[in-house]
Amino acid sequence: MSDKKLEEFENKLKADIKIEPRDWMPDDYRKNLIRMMSQHAHSEIVGMLPEGNWITRAPSLKRKKILMAKVQDEAGHGLYLYCATETLGADRKDLIEQLNTGKAKYASVFNYPTTTWADMGAVGWLVDGAAIMNQVSLQRTSYAPYSRAMVRICKEESFHQRQGFEIMEVMSNGTKEQREMAQDALDRWWWPALMMFGPHDANSPRSAKSLLWKIKRETNDELRQRFVDRVVPQADFLGLKIPDPDLKWNEKKGGHDFGEIDWDEFYSVVNGNGPCNRERLKARTEADENGRWVREAAEAYAAKHAS
Ligand code: 3HC
Repeated sequence: MSDKKLEEFENKLKADIKIEPRDWMPDDYRKNLIRMMSQHAHSEIVGMLPEGNWITRAPSLKRKKILMAKVQDEAGHGLYLYCATETLGADRKDLIEQLNTGKAKYASVFNYPTTTWADMGAVGWLVDGAAIMNQVSLQRTSYAPYSRAMVRICKEESFHQRQGFEIMEVMSNGTKEQREMAQDALDRWWWPALMMFGPHDANSPRSAKSLLWKIKRETNDELRQRFVDRVVPQADFLGLKIPDPDLKWNEKKGGHDFGEIDWDEFYSVVNGNGPCNRERLKARTEADENGRWVREAAEAYAAKHAS
């Protein structure tokens, strides 16, 4: 690695000048970004499945249209992030193969089942709410295409979170059964949503470098704390109880103390043993197989008209 190029790269980071695809960058910086950005894209694509499960069962045409719009947005976010990853020299076919063979990770939260309509509310409110917390921070990431992708994606994520919160508001102000359904959904989605921020900083093998390279601008725990402090008053407003007996306001800290995540569950789901991991990968590999003819036709057309 040429010292001069490394020095120039580091000076750009220091001056908060974004790194563009054609700029020189350390191999490890490139590799870390390909890993993180492709897994982000995989999360968007797999994230379509739990909600897609309810499009045909939405309680009204209005809710069906909103949910369809949201799921379509997620597809667009995934494609946008795959394009951004390709600017680093990654091959999309390789990325998809890594997802379909279980080599690549995606957000563990999507390996939980969506068993009632209230889950559409809890997923939008909590999962998209957590994603926004993380993605707003990533708008300041040092890699320019990723930063630009985040600016665009965050605009749509806020709609995702609002529509989910509105479902929870309607249900928590509805019948006794609807209130119970909303509470049950909060009970099941609270901890998986906290897991989205990753391991504690002390146990995060990637964070130190990611922070040094300004890929990450805040730590896993800082973002998780901000999420908890944002959501607790929202749950209070809904009249729902967050399933954490250790949750309490800490005046000295100026934030909430909260219980410990079940890290055995986290790593078990991350490593493929969650309730829906197999179902999710089966759906993705089937979709990939069913779409093969479209890709082949598009490639044949492009090759025929390339000259
Ligand atoms: N699910 C699955 N794997 C996870 C995870 C999670 N919630 N949290 C961490 N991991 C994995 C990491 O990928 C890493 O594994 P790897 O080295 O094999 O890639 C390992 O656990 C160690 O974690 P680290 O904290 O050291 O890894 P990172 O520094 O990459 O931090 C992260 C993890 C916070 C998820 C970070 O990668 C990140 O901010 N990624 C970008 C945002 C993102 O991917 N969000 C996913 C949700 S997108 C979404 O929800 C869509 C929305 O529309 C609903």
